[in-house]
Amino acid sequence: MTVAKLSITNLQAGYGDVQVLWDISLEVNPGEIVCLIGSNGAGKSTLLRCISGLVAATSGHVVVDGKDMTNASEAGVVSAGIAHVPEGRRLFSAMSVHDNLLMGAYLRKDKAQIAEDLDLVYSMFPVLAERRRQDAGTMSGGEQQMCAIGRGLMARPSLLLIDELSLGLAPRAVELLFERLRQINKGGVAILLVEQDVMDALALADRAYVVNRGRVSMSGESKVLAADPAIQEAFMGLA
Ligand SMILES: Nc1ncnc2c1ncn2[C@@H]1O[C@H](COP(=O)(O)OP(=O)(O)OP(=O)(O)O)[C@@H](O)[C@H]1O
Ligand SMILES: [Mg+2]
Repeated sequence: MTVAKLSITNLQAGYGDVQVLWDISLEVNPGEIVCLIGSNGAGKSTLLRCISGLVAATSGHVVVDGKDMTNASEAGVVSAGIAHVPEGRRLFSAMSVHDNLLMGAYLRKDKAQIAEDLDLVYSMFPVLAERRRQDAGTMSGGEQQMCAIGRGLMARPSLLLIDELSLGLAPRAVELLFERLRQINKGGVAILLVEQDVMDALALADRAYVVNRGRVSMSGESKVLAADPAIQEAFMGLA
């Protein structure tokens, strides 16, 4: 039996007295692409933050590679192979692209491999190489998203959490980013993707979970969910 890369069971979490996540259970297997869909405020970002140690779980478990990582530190989660590309990218806008990318490797000591990974990110996103000295905050939205993904990759993750890949970006930029995610995944990295563009997300992912008011309301193979009339009506503007 394969051990899941990430296994979440009965997770509850929130902010202060306000509970946002109710009994969430989900899995991401090694090498898998899983997407999370759900309307605004459903708790998708909170779930990713809870996985990466930014929001505390009040009950339930987050298990990574068979090891209980519930309420682990941010650094502990990164060391377990999970990198988070947050909603709104959150780059250091007054720092160069190069320095932002290196921030992703802050826990690593393997200098030679860090340099190799940097070359890999630059070959995957040549525009970042051209702009390596530019302040990240002056780049276009699409370039900033590439930089945020590149920064995530600099941690050498085996699971990448991506929150809102396409938000506010032009269709061409989105197309390129989806293509790169495919490439990253082929390299063996599992992906948990939160994405508003449900049609594209389901086309990319192996499986999906629908989060509704902090609970998983549906889950299954992406192909099956994409053909489900309830999903089509709620998220794809099809009735
Ligand atoms: N820092 C915070 N403090 C208090 N409440 C918060 C905080 N962040 C989010 N919330 C609340 O938690 C709920 C879930 O928010 P969350 O950002 O996880 O939703 P989401 O599914 O990611 O939504 P969106 O699609 O708009 O990004 C919302 O009601 C939101 O107002
Ligand atoms: Mg969100």
